[in-house]
Amino acid sequence: MFAGLDFGTSNCSIGIMHAGQPTLIPLEDGKTRLPSCLFIEKESSEAVIFSDKEIAGRVNTLKGQQTKINKPLSNETLISIARKQLRKEQREKTINSTRAQSIVEALRSNGDVLFGEEAELSHVAEPENGFYIKSPKSFLGADISVAQKQVFSGIVEKMLAFIKQEAEYLKQVEIDQVVIGRPVNFHGLLGRDGNAQALDIIGSAALKVGYKQVEFLMEPVAAAYDYERQLSKDKLVLILDLGGGTTDCSMIQIGPSYVNQQDRQSGILSHTGQRIGGIDLDNKLALMRLMPHFGKNVVLNNGLPVPNHLFKQAVSVNDVSAQQDFNLPRTGKELTRYCTMTTDSRLQRLLTLRDGKFGLRISRSAEQAKILLSEHHNIQLPLEYIEDDFAVSISRSELADSIADELSKFEVLMTEAIKQAGALPDALYVTGGTAMSPVVQQWIHSVFPDLEIIIGDHFGSVTSGLTTHAKRLFGN
Ligand SMILES: Nc1ncnc2c1ncn2[C@@H]1O[C@H](COP(=O)(O)OP(=O)(O)OP(=O)(O)O)[C@@H](O)[C@H]1O
Ligand SMILES: [Mg+2]
Repeated sequence: MFAGLDFGTSNCSIGIMHAGQPTLIPLEDGKTRLPSCLFIEKESSEAVIFSDKEIAGRVNTLKGQQTKINKPLSNETLISIARKQLRKEQREKTINSTRAQSIVEALRSNGDVLFGEEAELSHVAEPENGFYIKSPKSFLGADISVAQKQVFSGIVEKMLAFIKQEAEYLKQVEIDQVVIGRPVNFHGLLGRDGNAQALDIIGSAALKVGYKQVEFLMEPVAAAYDYERQLSKDKLVLILDLGGGTTDCSMIQIGPSYVNQQDRQSGILSHTGQRIGGIDLDNKLALMRLMPHFGKNVVLNNGLPVPNHLFKQAVSVNDVSAQQDFNLPRTGKELTRYCTMTTDSRLQRLLTLRDGKFGLRISRSAEQAKILLSEHHNIQLPLEYIEDDFAVSISRSELADSIADELSKFEVLMTEAIKQAGALPDALYVTGGTAMSPVVQQWIHSVFPDLEIIIGDHFGSVTSGLTTHAKRLFGN
């Protein structure tokens, strides 16, 4: 059996053909999209059974500690105390060795790995018990060391294995051929090399978890193949896929004359893509609307503002080097010193954010705000994990102002795709979760007031298109 797999920055989904139609499989609680995150639990030692000798030894020690003043305890009580003490010590030992475990050891061990919402919940409830990784895709194209590459390969493998097993179990089929989506450019700083590295990591992981044939397809092309299923006449269409980590465009000829062609390459006129997506909108919203409540723009008693890079680092949760810098002891000392240089208590919140390692939660809160602002014009965002009763109000127009730069970057990608194709599109097809935002949709209409704009299935289009293409490749 073949499948189409969208290994997204924010969400993963997998589809197979059912009754001639691409059909997404409900991976988590009936939902077809699985948040792209995992929680690798640190392995804890097995329950230990204490030997009679150990217990007798401890009972003797306890007897020696009994004072002559008090009535001696019965042997049974001493045994009970001895066992309790031994258990307590064992627990403490386990916790210490668990805490010291590295992510590499945790990956190698047979500890539990949780995925999707379950991973998010565990991370919030018991952050010390494991490693939480969100959006592994966004690190695959980055300039990472050999050791880091091994870690990310292990992480991708765990995610792909889980998705394959769940899909196979739910549908009671064996899936051995797969078309996996890829962005035009992966999130990262290595350009072409980064793309090759990311494809190598995903492709190798897919083979390792048991797929026998693995093909990649550009995500916007997959979205085009999904849109094509509704068309009764040919169109040159501009695809805009506004995802969580990347934005991709393609100019592609689709329609009844093309749908049965085995090789579609000549109809794909251009691709453009950048590592900018929903998460960058979240980071920007956090920087512009949340960080002022954490001391951004506060002027210190030397007449200078608190350096802006600290706030940028705090919210750039998908930037490995920014996170490393923010967590340096030197940064902590610098920030503590700035706190003594002002009476404005807002800056203390940045210290709380850093000390409590709340960066990911702030980013998640900013995402929550963005999503709520798709339904409401004004919201109150609770941030009680920073301070009791702390909430920030944000309006939809403030969101629009905060993300204006990012929106103009999306525009550059679209105009560049049109320019490279050398022809104007008949329609614009929009997909990806970021396009759910009314701010984004209004902006798209303002950029192309005269073009037919189709807002497709935000979360299913790419997977359906990948599945459709899998049928073309593996279906006979
Ligand atoms: N109602 C909403 N309003 C605005 N944005 C939303 C809404 N719902 C989800 N999003 C955003 O959509 C993004 C995820 O979209 P999607 O699932 O298409 O990404 P992805 O396919 O995982 O990522 P990529 O294609 O970049 O690898 C996230 O940034 C999320 O915050
Ligand atoms: Mg996507």
